[in-house]
Amino acid sequence: MKICVTGGAGFIGSVMVQMLVKNYPEDEIVCLDKLTYAGNLENLKAVENAPNYKFVKGDIADREFIFDLFKKEKFDVIINFAAETHVDRSVEHPEEFIRTNVMGTTTLLDACREFGIKRYHQVSTDEVYGDLPLDRPDLFFDETTPIHASSPYSAAKASADLFVMAYYRTFGVPVTISRCSNNYGQYQFPEKLIPLMISRAEADEALPVYGTGENVRDWLHVEDHCKAIDLIVRKGRVGEIYNIGGHNERTNLQVVKTILDALGKPESLIKYVKDRPGHDRRYAINPTKIETELGWEPTWNFDTGIRQTIQWYIDNEDWWKRILSGEYQDYFKEMYKDRV
Ligand code: NAD
Ligand code: TYD
Repeated sequence: MKICVTGGAGFIGSVMVQMLVKNYPEDEIVCLDKLTYAGNLENLKAVENAPNYKFVKGDIADREFIFDLFKKEKFDVIINFAAETHVDRSVEHPEEFIRTNVMGTTTLLDACREFGIKRYHQVSTDEVYGDLPLDRPDLFFDETTPIHASSPYSAAKASADLFVMAYYRTFGVPVTISRCSNNYGQYQFPEKLIPLMISRAEADEALPVYGTGENVRDWLHVEDHCKAIDLIVRKGRVGEIYNIGGHNERTNLQVVKTILDALGKPESLIKYVKDRPGHDRRYAINPTKIETELGWEPTWNFDTGIRQTIQWYIDNEDWWKRILSGEYQDYFKEMYKDRV
């Protein structure tokens, strides 16, 4: 099979690419990425010389480029991770979220219609369901929960999901969608809660906690997310949506305190700052469908996973320091100057 992983130089996509390259040597894996600020080829060093791997730089919303690429490569499977992903950036500048997350998705779907594929998988998010109240721990998102997006990010992801299902029903494109909870793990861009707090705590800088810090997120290790996507792509039913989550709910304050404790830093570093506009209160996934239908279960437990992740950021300070200084963007120029 020839599999195109879009957004494969980002946090989750790079784990997916590595998993596919290593576990399926008979498959050809093409990583397609625009290398925005969030794309970092250093995340893919481990596979860059693998015989079944290739990198292509490009924009999923560039119709001419995408159609040329599909014509040439004849992909069997598309796994679409490419997106603008940071809620705070979407509040400042929604336009790029509409362009990549909505127009990029429909461009890929149009190319799938034109050239034919065996499966198009859309990597979506639980944020499309909106949020749950903090005083109803009995409520969870399942696949029938209505879409009710809060931020420009989640509205763009929800919009893309609607197009994916419309292309299935109207044109018969063989699609699946996964909606996962918050991911954590190595190589996450240090604008997101966990790596941001680790890098700031390491530098003894204030940790900006939005509002009261009582908002709840349901954390899943990035490897468990990628294993679930692999299962859905190979065994999931066409036209279906699968929620992914491991029942690891924590308040933001609990997460930040765990980080401070692991780093041996004082809680006085916590600084409560103005809340995010429209801040979702609680996300919580009911993963029964993927567990019963596909036999998926998470391998990581949050308390061990978060400690291991914090240790990774301590051991790989160079990685996030190069990001903070902007140096990581030179890697592409050097590595690929004669190749693309
Ligand atoms: P990320 O921001 O780390 O990576 C996004 C990648 O997409 C980057 O490599 C970037 O260069 C690339 N990209 C952006 N615009 C592009 C374009 N127009 N064309 C081609 N490539 C482009 O994101 P992530 O956290 O790895 O998330 C990946 C996917 O998973 C997203 O679709 C996101 O909505 C979804 N998701 C993320 C989480 C999470 O907790 N991070 C949870 C559930 C779902
Ligand atoms: P984030 O990692 O941006 O993911 P998302 O908003 O997609 O869930 O944020 C996780 C939670 O942490 C969210 O409730 C917002 C909060 N947060 C802070 O309190 N301070 C910060 O500096 C950031 C980036 C996030």
